Amino acid sequence: MTKRKGIIMAGGSGSRMNPITNAVSKHLLQVYDKPMIYYPISTLMLAGIREILIISTPEHIGLYKNLIKKIGKIGVDFKFHVQEKPKGIAHGLILAEKFLNGSPCALILGDNLFYGNGFSNLLHQANKNDKGAYIFSYKVKNPNQYGVVKFDRNNKIVSIIEKPKVFISNFAVTGLYFYDSHGVEFAKKLKPSNRGELEITDLNLQYIKNNALKVISLNRGFAWLDTGTPQGLLDSANFIATIEKRQGIKISCLEEIALHKSWINITNFKKLPNYDTNSEYGKYLINLADDFDEDK
Ligand code: DAU
Repeated sequence: MTKRKGIIMAGGSGSRMNPITNAVSKHLLQVYDKPMIYYPISTLMLAGIREILIISTPEHIGLYKNLIKKIGKIGVDFKFHVQEKPKGIAHGLILAEKFLNGSPCALILGDNLFYGNGFSNLLHQANKNDKGAYIFSYKVKNPNQYGVVKFDRNNKIVSIIEKPKVFISNFAVTGLYFYDSHGVEFAKKLKPSNRGELEITDLNLQYIKNNALKVISLNRGFAWLDTGTPQGLLDSANFIATIEKRQGIKISCLEEIALHKSWINITNFKKLPNYDTNSEYGKYLINLADDFDEDK
C-alpha cells in the first residue's frame, strides 16, 4: 500500500473572524493552550501520516514555517505551499499534486477539531483503504452552515448539498477527507462554483457518482468542533480547557503523540524546543518524560 500523505488547508480569507484576522492568520489563533493548527496536525498524526503539506496564503506561510521549526524534529516531514488566492478547498489538491506524487491523501481543514474515544481506530480504518474516498459525518443543530449528507432509506449516501437553504438532514460533512490517488485528477476537472471556488463538495459528488464514497458517522460522545468563528473558537477553547483540567492530560500535544508512536525516542524528546519549565505545555512534556522514564 502506498503511504498516505496529509494536506492541511490553512489559507482562506478568514473573513468570518474579522477584525481579528485583519492582522493575524486564523489557524494560529489560540485554542486554549496551543495554536489552532496543532489540532488538525494531531489528527493526521493519529492517522499515522508522517508527511504533511501545509497550504496557506503568501502573507502567512512564513509564520507556519516558523511555528513548525519551533516544534523541532518529531518524526513528521512538513512541507509548505502557497495558495495565492482562496480558490477553494479542492484547489488544495491541485496545489499538492507534486507533493503527493501519486499517493493517496488525507485533507483536513485547519480550523477543524476532532476529539473522541476510538477516533484513532476510525482514522486507521479510513487510512488502510486506498481505493475510493472516505468522509466523516456529524450530527449538528445548524446543518445549513455546512456540506450536508443526504441518505436514502437504507442509509446509503445519495448526495451532498453545500450549505442547503432547505432542510436535508442534520448530518454535516466534517472537514476531513480521505482520497485515493485519483483525488488530484478529479479536482482538476472541477469548475468553480458561484462563489468562485473549487468546492470540496463537488469533488465528493464525483466520488459518489463513481460509487466510491464511504461515510463514517461520528456518533454521540464524539466532539467535532468548528473553531473558525468567534463563538466556535471560544466554545472549543472552553471544551479543551475543561477536559484537560479535569484529567490532567493535553489534547493534541504533538510531541506526546510522536513519543507514543515511537517516532521519536526519549533522549531526543527531552531536547525538543518546547520541553522547558517556562510554560504549562513545557512542564507537561517534562512530566511525560518522567512518567516514561519510570515505566522503563
Ligand atoms: O468545516 C466543514 C465544512 O468546511 C464543510 O461542511 C463544507 O462542506 C466545506 O465547504 C467547508 O465549509 P466552510 O464554509 O467552512 O469552508 P471555508 O471556506 O470557511 O474554509 C474552510 C477552511 O479551509 C478555512 O480554515 C480556510 C481554509 N481554506 C478555504 C478556502 C476556500 C483554504 O485554505 N483555502 C481556500 O481557498
